[in-house]
Amino acid sequence: MLLSFSGPLAYAAIAVAWSTFVVPHTKDADDTLALMAAIPDYTSDASIVFEADTTYNIWSPITFPPFTNVEVVISGNLTYPTSIKTVQGHVATANYSGAWFSFTGGHNVTLRGNTDPDWGWVDGHGQQWWDIMQQTNRPSGWLFKNVTNGIIRDMKIYKPIAWNFGTIGSSNMHIFNNIILANSESASFPFNTDGFSAGGTDFLFENNHVVNGDDCLAVGSGAKNVTWRDSYCEGSHGLSVGSLGAGGQVASVENVLFENTIMNRTLYAARFKSWTGGNGAAINITWKNITFIDVMLPIFVTQNYQDQSGGPYPSSSSVNETRIENFLFDNFVGVINDTPGYVEGSCITDPCWYHVSGATGKEGVIFDLYPKTATNIVVKNLVAHTLSGAPVAAMCNSSTISNDVGFVCSDGPYVPTQAGL
Ligand SMILES: *[C@@H]1O[C@H](CO)[C@@H](O)[C@H](O)[C@H]1NC(C)=O
Ligand SMILES: *[C@@H]1O[C@H](CO)[C@@H](O)[C@H](O)[C@H]1NC(C)=O
Ligand SMILES: *[C@@H]1O[C@H](CO)[C@@H](O)[C@H](O)[C@H]1NC(C)=O
Ligand SMILES: *[C@@H]1O[C@H](CO)[C@@H](O)[C@H](O)[C@H]1NC(C)=O
Ligand SMILES: *[C@@H]1O[C@H](CO)[C@@H](O)[C@H](O)[C@H]1NC(C)=O
Ligand SMILES: *[C@@H]1O[C@H](CO)[C@@H](O)[C@H](O)[C@H]1NC(C)=O
Ligand SMILES: *[C@@H]1O[C@H](CO)[C@@H](O)[C@H](O)[C@H]1NC(C)=O
Ligand SMILES: *[C@@H]1O[C@H](CO)[C@@H](O)[C@H](O)[C@H]1NC(C)=O
Ligand SMILES: *[C@@H]1O[C@H](CO)[C@@H](O)[C@H](O)[C@H]1NC(C)=O
Ligand SMILES: *[C@@H]1O[C@H](CO)[C@@H](O)[C@H](O)[C@H]1NC(C)=O
Repeated sequence: MLLSFSGPLAYAAIAVAWSTFVVPHTKDADDTLALMAAIPDYTSDASIVFEADTTYNIWSPITFPPFTNVEVVISGNLTYPTSIKTVQGHVATANYSGAWFSFTGGHNVTLRGNTDPDWGWVDGHGQQWWDIMQQTNRPSGWLFKNVTNGIIRDMKIYKPIAWNFGTIGSSNMHIFNNIILANSESASFPFNTDGFSAGGTDFLFENNHVVNGDDCLAVGSGAKNVTWRDSYCEGSHGLSVGSLGAGGQVASVENVLFENTIMNRTLYAARFKSWTGGNGAAINITWKNITFIDVMLPIFVTQNYQDQSGGPYPSSSSVNETRIENFLFDNFVGVINDTPGYVEGSCITDPCWYHVSGATGKEGVIFDLYPKTATNIVVKNLVAHTLSGAPVAAMCNSSTISNDVGFVCSDGPYVPTQAGL
């Protein structure tokens, strides 16, 4: 059969040329400046390459302009300033864009690292911040703001200072094969080293490996159609939705699926939290096929979130709550860490910020729901053991929920019911 190639060939002939910018490196100098000077010539149809065998000094924040068809390739190592004061100085400036590396919009934008074990790391020198609990003017790592069709792949982050990847206002993002290592080598805790946030629509996260000290993934308000799968989270605060509804905010989260993930030595495996007094709703959220290894509390849902180190729950019976609807926790298998006296590293107050009054530490699930605002929330196929061998417990207040939640809704032993089998 004869095919006409005139269409595609004609198109190829007029296609714009692709340009490549190799970021220059100067010994003992800030490499951001030369990059920022050149960038206006590479905002479309371009590759911006941090080349291999080079350690770049990213001594001041990088704010990329909106891009169209641009990839940023991290083949060399990138290092933050080792001076805490230098970093803080930049974060404190009025024009700080919200992250050390910011993408500020555009279409078809790729951030790509590599899989070489020796190169392609972004080193935040976070350990020294964690060791002195320095929490003033900490930068976020990477911000993808208002990007459509974004890719973040093969990135390798080493000891970030705090939060890693933010995605607010972006849509259609594929975020995969990334490694975040925020594990502390001392007794100090890597506070707020959240792995990823999902703050937009149409996100697929897969094959990510995160060792950190806060949420592995945090799905925030405005998120819709988010899938997270085939990943590993260690030391973190889990696969979270929230916090929603702070200060009466109208939250909206819809159609979220977390599946096929190992949660190793985390505080929670799955967590939902909204603040008392919130508005809006979180609808259709599923956590499925989650393996948990020595996790303190596999499933935790609270519509009354309050940092317990900041005092007791606010007393409120008349304000609104963020509604929750159609939540499913399916096929959770693993071991609860109920070792007596065990304290998760982020607990530095008495009571801990995550303290739940009346909890025994043996709970497989805690539902802390608000009356008339939670519908169809179910735990199915939860197969849990405790490290101590003690029976698994649950907490749930039956006067706050009318559906069969999959276990006997009371504070006591975990006993599956019809909906839970
Ligand atoms: C999107 O950008 C990539 C580079 O990251 C490029 O190879 C590809 O052709 C672009 N897609 C379109 C449709 O232009
Ligand atoms: C931000 O302001 C500082 C001076 O306060 C300047 O040196 C720096 O280049 C500015 N950065 C950006 C991204 O505009
Ligand atoms: C988002 O990006 C589009 C173009 O890609 C631009 O028109 C719009 O102003 C941007 N919005 C914000 C809030 O930055
Ligand atoms: C690149 O950075 C990582 C993390 O800091 C480090 O382990 C590795 O040795 C560095 N590579 C080279 C070739 O220096
Ligand atoms: C959900 O997001 C994924 C990943 O971006 C996309 O492929 C899919 O088409 C979206 N689904 C809907 C219903 O929009
Ligand atoms: C619930 O969310 C899942 C996962 O995002 C999606 O596939 C499904 O279509 C949603 N269901 C409804 C009724 O919207
Ligand atoms: C469950 O998740 C694990 C990874 O944690 C994966 O290996 C396994 O294939 C998944 N099972 C199903 C039925 O998808
Ligand atoms: C869980 O984490 C511990 C501590 O980092 C590690 O030794 C162990 O290999 C991990 N388990 C799995 C299954 O990855
Ligand atoms: C509570 O919700 C109602 C109905 O959505 C709304 O009109 C009202 O403003 C909300 N109250 C507060 C304090 O947010
Ligand atoms: C259960 O919830 C109801 C309604 O909020 C409340 O009045 C009651 O004190 C709760 N019971 C327990 C044991 O927490």
